[in-house]
Amino acid sequence: MSESTPDEEQVNRCECAGKTFEQLKAYENFEAAQAATRCGVECGGCVPYIKLMFACGETAFDIDDPRLAEYE
Ligand code: FES
Repeated sequence: MSESTPDEEQVNRCECAGKTFEQLKAYENFEAAQAATRCGVECGGCVPYIKLMFACGETAFDIDDPRLAEYE
């Protein structure tokens, strides 16, 4: 693997559904986003990040953002 910059280590999308958090933010809440895009359905790795995104409004997170503990 090549070296990654801090930017590349940020989580900003559901890889499985191919949707950025910016796109998912257009939905009313997590449930609505999931129903429409199937985000968080496949591997589930993005679920805490998406929930945090709806809670705080940011669309990119550190992989180990301490706020994620509330949503795991
Ligand atoms: S990254 Fe979102 S379900 Fe896998």
